[in-house]
Amino acid sequence: MTSSSTESAVGAPAALIRQARGQVMGLITQFLLGMAVNLIGLPSETKDGSKTATSILLTVHMLIAAGLAVGAVLVLRLARATDRRTRRLATFGAVAIGATIVAGSATLPTENNWWSYAMAVGFAAALLSYGALLLSRTDHAST
Ligand code: HEM
Repeated sequence: MTSSSTESAVGAPAALIRQARGQVMGLITQFLLGMAVNLIGLPSETKDGSKTATSILLTVHMLIAAGLAVGAVLVLRLARATDRRTRRLATFGAVAIGATIVAGSATLPTENNWWSYAMAVGFAAALLSYGALLLSRTDHAST
């Protein structure tokens, strides 16, 4: 079987797996950037080089959040043509990403640690959703 016929046979699931993998990689990058901001301190709490470093890290963190939101919508759309469990996991992932962005947006103005904690919870929920989605889709692809 040629690689092109393999691709057409699995079609949408292959794109779905790629997109869900992208979400997992984005989430892990997001976690590492967020922990670095947490370690250095918020821009309002730092000065000089630390302020510049944390501002850059936070800007990238916010850009990746936007990318994760777009990715969540793409996963939702690609999951439409699949089974109920995959659709539900795609929905959980999108809800977790949305809620985490709300928590992140509330962390900055309030500087309340509970919003920051909510971001960590949202990260774990989104990672579990996309991880479970990938595991079940990989099982389908191998059978
Ligand atoms: C899907 C989107 C996001 C994920 C998965 C995420 C995840 C995280 C994680 C795991 C941390 C480190 C642990 C913690 O402090 O909770 C963190 C820190 C942080 N994130 Fe996010 N975040 C997201 C979106 C955002 C957005 C949209 C903003 C701002 C508009 C933001 C602002 C921050 C800030 C300011 C910190 C440092 C908090 C502190 O030092 O207390 N995050 N993020």
